[in-house]
Amino acid sequence: MGLSPTDSADVFVVRRSAPLRGVITVPGAKNSVLKLMAASILAPGETVLSNVPAIADVPVMADILQGLGAEVTLDLDAGLCTIRFDDEPDWHAPADAVTRIRASISCLGPLVGRLRRCRIALPGGDNIGKRGIEMHLAGLEAMGASVIEHADGIEVRAEDLHGAQITLDFPSVGATENLVMAASVADGRTIIDNAAREPEIQDLCAFLVEMGARIEGIGDPRLEIEGVPELTAVSWRTCPDRIEAGTWAVAAALTHGDLLLEHVRPADLTMPLMKLRAAGAVVEEGADSLRIKAGDLEAVNFVTLPYPGFPTDMQPQFMVLLSQAQGTSMCTENVFESRFSFVEQFRKMGADIDIDGHHALIRGVAPLHGAVLDGLDVRAGAAGVLAGLVADGETIVRDVHHVDRGYGDFVPRLRSIGADVERVPASEVDLPAPDA
Ligand code: UD1
Repeated sequence: MGLSPTDSADVFVVRRSAPLRGVITVPGAKNSVLKLMAASILAPGETVLSNVPAIADVPVMADILQGLGAEVTLDLDAGLCTIRFDDEPDWHAPADAVTRIRASISCLGPLVGRLRRCRIALPGGDNIGKRGIEMHLAGLEAMGASVIEHADGIEVRAEDLHGAQITLDFPSVGATENLVMAASVADGRTIIDNAAREPEIQDLCAFLVEMGARIEGIGDPRLEIEGVPELTAVSWRTCPDRIEAGTWAVAAALTHGDLLLEHVRPADLTMPLMKLRAAGAVVEEGADSLRIKAGDLEAVNFVTLPYPGFPTDMQPQFMVLLSQAQGTSMCTENVFESRFSFVEQFRKMGADIDIDGHHALIRGVAPLHGAVLDGLDVRAGAAGVLAGLVADGETIVRDVHHVDRGYGDFVPRLRSIGADVERVPASEVDLPAPDA
């Protein structure tokens, strides 16, 4: 896959396609591998990760770890990442790489855990409240850390990092992960109530246990962590990407196709599969595979919630699916305020969707036509491509570097199952000025 800076000026050109048919192998989870990489900070020696997805965020996390002093080897074709910390890591996370991905904040917990101090920039440069890491910081403070705000980031110090009773306001994925990592090497017992339970967090916790951490309640809203003096570097296979799998599942149902998804854990997708079935898709679950075939699509309501609720990361793709379903569906978004930004772009294609606060009313079946879609995030970008598969004319998805962050080799894999999509330099396409 291409990861050079010039690739970010590429666009996807999508045309109405035949039903997608074939086999897709689902890679390791983006939202797991980046945390596993960050957790390698906790132990001296060599961490070997397999089933590493070929996505753009992985080399950025590798850059961060290198900036902290690790020797990192990436072989994305083989899905392998080796991280070696011979010396103690630097406590300053490198700002240039840190500001490029949100998951960089996952270095905070391991650095505070191992070194009892960390200085890290905040991606995007907003204030801490808007950045939404106050739960991470409050938890670390409960464990004895103090936080100093700098103009360009934060500094966290904890001479005495000790166990604590922490109740999260909301089951935040990132806060749960950071606190578990720090607590694994804190003095004493930490209890995290209202912890997030996403499969990727379970993967991280199991990885930490393999390293020697003592964690009870993995997969439950209460995590109990007995700190240990040190952890050992290990080898680990990244869990499958349920959001990628879900995106392909929607693609199959949307195009009235028939896809076999391999290397997935159907149990991680219970709620989306329930909604897919309710929307008319035929879903066959294997031990580590899924087969999705289309039926006639009907409206369904869905509500995004922390796991095991419907994942917010599949909300835009589901909006596209339901735009092609008979009847009116309602989506309630509870996790991210700005997650309906995709709708504005999607409406340019003829989607009939009204937004009222955090509710969206999706009226189907809306005939879709090609449009130029801008400023989409990783999931919305993928959703834009899906919409293009069932739209008349040509759909152009700009800012494809977002999609590269979550979907490795997206275009070749789509083409392998019959999608009419290509990736071309923006200079080769006649484009209007981007939306303001
Ligand atoms: C992770 C995932 C992201 C997914 C999200 C929810 C990664 C790299 N990203 O993001 O794909 O959509 O979980 O499943 O794993 N919040 C605060 N204060 C905090 C922490 C969170 O206000 O201290 C807010 C956030 O602004 C957001 C919501 O809580 O509105 C959910 O955030 P969180 O669960 O922490 O998600 P992330 O870890 O950022």
